[in-house]
Amino acid sequence: MRAKSNWLEDLCFLKCLPGLGSGASLFTVHLAYILFILHPFLHYTFKDLSGSVSLAWVGDGTGVILALTTFQVPFFMIRLGQSKLYRSENYGKTFEDVTNLINNTFIRSEFGIAIGNSGKVILTGEVSGGHGSRIFVSDDFGKTFTPRDLPFNPLMQITYNPDNSNVLLVLSNSYELWLSEDFGSNWKKIHDTVCLVKWGRKNTIFFTANHNGSCTDRGMLELKRSTDYGKTIKTVANKIYSFGLGGRFLFASVMTGKGTLRMIYVSVDQGETWNMAQLPPVGHEQFYSILGANDEMVFMHVDEPGGQYRIRHHYVSDDRGTVYSKSLERHLYTTTNGDTDFTNVTSLRGVFITSVLAEDNSVQSVVSFDQGGEWVPLRKPANSKCDATAKDPDKCSLHIHAAYSIAMKLNVPMLPLTEPNAVGLILAHGSVGDAISVMKPDVYVSDDGGYTWMKALDGPHHYAILDSGGLLVAVEQSPTQPINVIKFSTDEGQCWRAYTFTKEPIYFTGLASEPGARSMNVSVWGYRDSLLSQYWISITIDFRDLLTRDCDDKDYVQWLAHSDDISDPNDGCMLGYKERFLRLRKDSVCWNGRDYQVNTQPTPCPCTLDDFLCDFGYYRQENSSECVEQPDLKGKVLEFCLHGKEELLQTSGYRKIPGDKCEGGNMPERKEIDLSKRCVSDLVGPELLVNSRSSKSVPIVMTVIVVMLLIIAAGVVFIKKYVCGGRFLVHRYSVLQQHVEENAVDGMDDPASRGSWTVMAACSEYDLILY
Ligand SMILES: *[C@@H]1O[C@H](CO)[C@@H](O)[C@H](O)[C@H]1NC(C)=O
Ligand SMILES: *[C@@H]1O[C@H](CO)[C@@H](O)[C@H](O)[C@H]1NC(C)=O
Ligand SMILES: *[C@@H]1O[C@H](CO)[C@@H](O)[C@H](O)[C@H]1NC(C)=O
Ligand SMILES: *[C@@H]1O[C@H](CO)[C@@H](O)[C@H](O)[C@H]1NC(C)=O
Ligand SMILES: *[C@@H]1O[C@H](CO)[C@@H](O)[C@H](O)[C@H]1NC(C)=O
Repeated sequence: MRAKSNWLEDLCFLKCLPGLGSGASLFTVHLAYILFILHPFLHYTFKDLSGSVSLAWVGDGTGVILALTTFQVPFFMIRLGQSKLYRSENYGKTFEDVTNLINNTFIRSEFGIAIGNSGKVILTGEVSGGHGSRIFVSDDFGKTFTPRDLPFNPLMQITYNPDNSNVLLVLSNSYELWLSEDFGSNWKKIHDTVCLVKWGRKNTIFFTANHNGSCTDRGMLELKRSTDYGKTIKTVANKIYSFGLGGRFLFASVMTGKGTLRMIYVSVDQGETWNMAQLPPVGHEQFYSILGANDEMVFMHVDEPGGQYRIRHHYVSDDRGTVYSKSLERHLYTTTNGDTDFTNVTSLRGVFITSVLAEDNSVQSVVSFDQGGEWVPLRKPANSKCDATAKDPDKCSLHIHAAYSIAMKLNVPMLPLTEPNAVGLILAHGSVGDAISVMKPDVYVSDDGGYTWMKALDGPHHYAILDSGGLLVAVEQSPTQPINVIKFSTDEGQCWRAYTFTKEPIYFTGLASEPGARSMNVSVWGYRDSLLSQYWISITIDFRDLLTRDCDDKDYVQWLAHSDDISDPNDGCMLGYKERFLRLRKDSVCWNGRDYQVNTQPTPCPCTLDDFLCDFGYYRQENSSECVEQPDLKGKVLEFCLHGKEELLQTSGYRKIPGDKCEGGNMPERKEIDLSKRCVSDLVGPELLVNSRSSKSVPIVMTVIVVMLLIIAAGVVFIKKYVCGGRFLVHRYSVLQQHVEENAVDGMDDPASRGSWTVMAACSEYDLILY
C-alpha cells in the first residue's frame, strides 16, 4: 500500500501539461496501473426504462441513497405514469428495488424526495380517482415506508419544520394550509386562502393569506405569523404584496399608496416592528429579490426603470437590514425566469461573483472580495489567450458561465462549484475575453478564492469536489457520444488524469456524490441504449482505493487568505480580520478523511475608515473614505422619518460594516446628530405625522397586488414537462439537497423562485421508444 502511494506522489512531480488532451499520451503508460489499483468498479443496472431519476442522500455519512425513477407521458391533461424506488446502503455501489414498499404507487417526481432530519423521508404519491392524496413516510432512512392518506391534495412538496422534523406543513391545491405534528398521521387545517407559506426560526410559521378572495385576484394580502403551530395566529402586516426570509431578517414588500409603487419593509423581531428599507420604490412590473442574506447583512437586487434597457442595481444592507448602499450597477437579472449569476463563493469569506450587463449589452463577470464593497473583473488566467471578444489580445478577463448561460441554453452543464470545507477552491465554466462568449466554454479553477485562475479542462464538464477538496473529479459533457472516462485531480485541478471506468461506454447524464464534499465515492450516472430498450446505469468509483494513505501534519501548509501583497501589514485583512488556514499541499496524495475540519486561526486587524459604511443621509465622495452629509435627500428624509424607528435617527454618519471585527486603529470620531431635526419639513403635514405614529404599532396600511409565486412555479413545472416531455422522453437527473437549508435565502418578489432541488442535466432529447 505504502509503495503505491509513493509511486503516485512521484507521478505528481512530473511536469503537468495543461488540460488533458496533449498530455494524455504521457499518462497512457500509467493508466493500466491506475486501472489496477482502483478496484474493479461497481456498477448497478436498473431494469428500468424510466424517464427521470431523482436521487436523495438520507442522513449524513450513512451511505443510504434513494433513487426514484419516474416515467410519465402527458396524455392530454391526464398523466400516466409509473415509479420505481431503489435503495442503496453503500454509497450507490449496489441498489435494491424496493418499489413494493410504496405499493407500486405513482410518485410525483416534481415534488421529489423530501428528506428531514434523523432518517425521515416523505414521498408524495398520486392516487387516481379519489379526492385526497397519499404520502409514504419513513423514519428509518427509507428501510420501511408507511402509507398515510391526506385529507387534501398537496400543491407543493411537504415541508419539514427545520427544528423538528415531526412537524409538517403543506399547502393544498385549494390553497388551504395544513399541518401535522405527528409526522403525517393526523392533519389539521390552519387557514384558508393561503398564498405563500414559509418556516421561520424557532417553530414559527409565516404566511400570506387573503380574506375572501383567491390568490389569483392580486388582491390584498395579510402577513400572518403563528408560533404555536396554528393555535393562535397573529396578523403582523397588512396589504402585503409578497414576503421573504433571509438570515434573521423578515422582509415584506408593501404598496406605498402612490399608485402601483411598492417599498420594502424589514423586521428583525419576527414582524413585531417594521422599518422601511432605504431602497428605491419599484412599480408592479419591477421586482425586488434577496440574492443572499445572513444574520449580519443582505444582498438585495432592485430592478429600476431607466430608458430603453432596464437598469438593475444591487445593494448591500447594514446590520439592521434597513440602510442599504448601492453595491453594483447594471446587475444582470432576467425578468422571465429570475436567473441571476450571483454566486456566494462559500470556500472563502467575503467573496461573491456575479455578472453585469455592460453599456454595449454584453454580459461580463465581476468579483467582489469584500462582501460587495468593490467589484472588479476577474483576472485573466495565466495559461489562456484572449478570445475573439477581446479588442486587445493581451488584455482581457475571465468570465464565468452561471445560471444565465444555462438559461440561455449555452453548453454549460454545471453552475460554479465551491464548498466551505474546500478552502479557496472554485470550479467553474468560463471564457476569456472582454465579455462572456457563446462559444464552447472551458473549465477553470481558482485555488485562492477567485484572485487567480487557471484553465483546467478543455470544453464543458460535469465536476464534483470530494474529500474536502483533496480530490476533484470531472466527466466530459457529451450528450450524443457515449463515454467511459472519468478525470481526476489530486492537486486542486492543476494536473488531471484519466481513468477508464467501464469497457462499455454509457450515455452520461451526471455525477453524484454525497452532499458536503466529504465522500470518496462518486457515482457516474447514465444510460445504455439498445435497439429496443434503454436502461439506467450507475457506476460507483471508490477513490479510497487510490488515496490509501491518511494525511498527516506534514501534508498541510499554512495559507493566508486574501493575501496579495505580503509587504503590506494589512495584507490579508478582510472585514477586520485575517485568517490563516492549514491546507493540503498540492503534491500530497493522501486522504483528508470524513472528519476533516477546516483549521483556521483568525487574528484581528486595526480599523480603518474602510471598515465603516456611511449611514443614512451620508455618502462617500469619489476616492475618499470619509462619509459626508448628503445635501439633497429630497423626499427620502420624509419617508425615513415617517417609517423609521426613533433609534435609527441618531447617527454619526458611520456604521461598522456588518460582520467586521476590526479592533483599535483609526475609529471615526464624530458626535451623533439627530436626523429627526431634518424631518421638519413643509411636506410633513399634521395629518401624515398622525399616520406615522399609528403606523408604528399597526404596521403597514396601504394598497396591494399579489405575487402568485406558487402559480408561477407550478406553471414552470408544467411548461418544462410539456416542452421536454411531449414526444420526447424526459431524461432528468436530479440531486436533492440532504438537509433542509437552515439559512435558506428566499427570493421574495422574484418572478419564479427556484425550487429546493437542482436539476443537474435537464432534457436530453431523443425519440421515445414506446412499448
Ligand atoms: C396496495 O394496493 C392495493 C391496490 O390498490 C391494495 O389492495 C393494498 O391493500 C395495498 N397494500 C398496502 C400495503 O397498502
Ligand atoms: C371581501 O369581499 C367584499 C365583497 O365582495 C369586498 O367588498 C371586500 O373588499 C373584500 N375584502 C378583501 C380584503 O378583499
Ligand atoms: C455565503 O456563504 C457562507 C458559507 O456558507 C455563509 O456563511 C454566508 O453567510 C453566505 N453569505 C451570504 C450573504 O449569503
Ligand atoms: C465509500 O463507500 C464505502 C461503502 O461502499 C464506505 O464504506 C466508505 O466509508 C465510503 N467512503 C467515504 C469516504 O465516504
Ligand atoms: C479618483 O481616482 C481615479 C484613479 O486614481 C482618478 O482617475 C479619478 O480622476 C479620481 N477622481 C476624483 C474625483 O478625484
